[in-house]
Amino acid sequence: MTKNKNNKTIWTTRIKKNTSTLFQKVGSSIDVDRRLYKEDIISSIAHVEMLFKQKIITFKIKNKIIYGLNKIKNEISNNKFEFNKKYEDIHINIEKRLFQIIGEEAGFVHTARSRNDQIITDFKIWIKSATNKINDLLEITIKNTLNLAQDNVRTIMPGFTHLKNAQPISFAHYLMAYVEMFNRDKKRFNNNLENLNENPLGVAALTGTSFNIDRNYTTKKLGFSKPTNNSVDTVSDRDFVLDFLYSVSVCAMHISRIAEELIIWNSDAFNLINLSDKVVTGSSIMPQKKNPDLLEYLRGKSGSAYGNLFAMLTILKGIPLSYYKDLQDDKEIIFRSNDTLVNCLSVFNEVLRNFKPNKKQMLELANSGYITATDLADYLVKNHSMSFRKAYQITANIVNLAEKKNKKLDQLKISELKKIEPILTEDVLKVFDLNNSVNSKKSFGGTSFDNIKKMIMKYKKMK
Ligand code: ARG
Repeated sequence: MTKNKNNKTIWTTRIKKNTSTLFQKVGSSIDVDRRLYKEDIISSIAHVEMLFKQKIITFKIKNKIIYGLNKIKNEISNNKFEFNKKYEDIHINIEKRLFQIIGEEAGFVHTARSRNDQIITDFKIWIKSATNKINDLLEITIKNTLNLAQDNVRTIMPGFTHLKNAQPISFAHYLMAYVEMFNRDKKRFNNNLENLNENPLGVAALTGTSFNIDRNYTTKKLGFSKPTNNSVDTVSDRDFVLDFLYSVSVCAMHISRIAEELIIWNSDAFNLINLSDKVVTGSSIMPQKKNPDLLEYLRGKSGSAYGNLFAMLTILKGIPLSYYKDLQDDKEIIFRSNDTLVNCLSVFNEVLRNFKPNKKQMLELANSGYITATDLADYLVKNHSMSFRKAYQITANIVNLAEKKNKKLDQLKISELKKIEPILTEDVLKVFDLNNSVNSKKSFGGTSFDNIKKMIMKYKKMK
């Protein structure tokens, strides 16, 4: 940058000594918030257009500023812009360059605004678009999960509680559980949009301004739905940041849970799925190994997402109103959370396309652990007008018998069953069939094949 008086920081008239190099290093946020350059320029353009409309600046000055800002945008996009830590953040870096390009008239751009409202405006615009991008990725995740579910409606596996065989379910039903979660994640992100849609621009440092500005105009220009109500609240709070970080955390947690399950299922002990070579890594010493590192990456990253949420909550809890430097960290935190989730969703989609259920093993495992015992108890209630508790006890006795004889429930003969409960007839044996068991759960939301197919169709039609 050329040597002129604008090569100094803005406050040198007041603050005579140079900021210590150490403070410049730690206090500058340019390495982080340069990512907001487009948003910063868009909102500055809207701001000067409003200033002109309100006759606060002239037509000529407005045009000059807009010309300069657009030039800066191109310079930054083309990596031709020299960012300087001395100018602290993206706002001052841009303003300084504007002076170099258009001269003294650049000084009009900061009329009736402060960096305090400027940064939140940029940030909200950025978070809105990040939210939409995450939702697009969630959309793809849901689609991939649905496709896998569609291929596996009749794939029977053990449903677990406490990681013990509980009742047989369709693998598709299990996958559809995650479709519900990802769909709620999408809604959670969407719900944040209402607060994000309030325009901060024009509240200035903390009090509003005595200039006759039109906040509705910039609101419209920048695609917000209304101006924020209270200037102090606007520059102080970062609850919209927390909303985003929380939504990221919940989504990362959902991904972490399915990753953990797939890790367990991929283990040699369970062997319920096969991961393709694309998503495993080898060992440096054990030649036979194929490790599910990507899944472990997904499980681990939920930790950083929670960490970011807690960092922001902690930063906020002791800050009096209104703006304090502590708040500057919000950008770094959110960018990290966003980038992590974007990576996790992309990696997870890669995993979804690169694993296959081991149907044979799923069925075999489903056929152990007396998994149809509850079906037997239900049968007794329905066919022999017993109370459920009585049927439960009889079934437990039958399970004990099977265990003693080292047989599965469907290997018991009717004569053996009759020893425990004489009213039983051959008809009862059908309840031990896994397909029957799964398909009998026709209650809304249950695992019957028809239910699953309908749910898949419903989601496929949804957009
Ligand atoms: N870079 C600052 C931030 O991100 C912008 C606001 C600065 N305002 C101030 N009063 N120092 O928080």
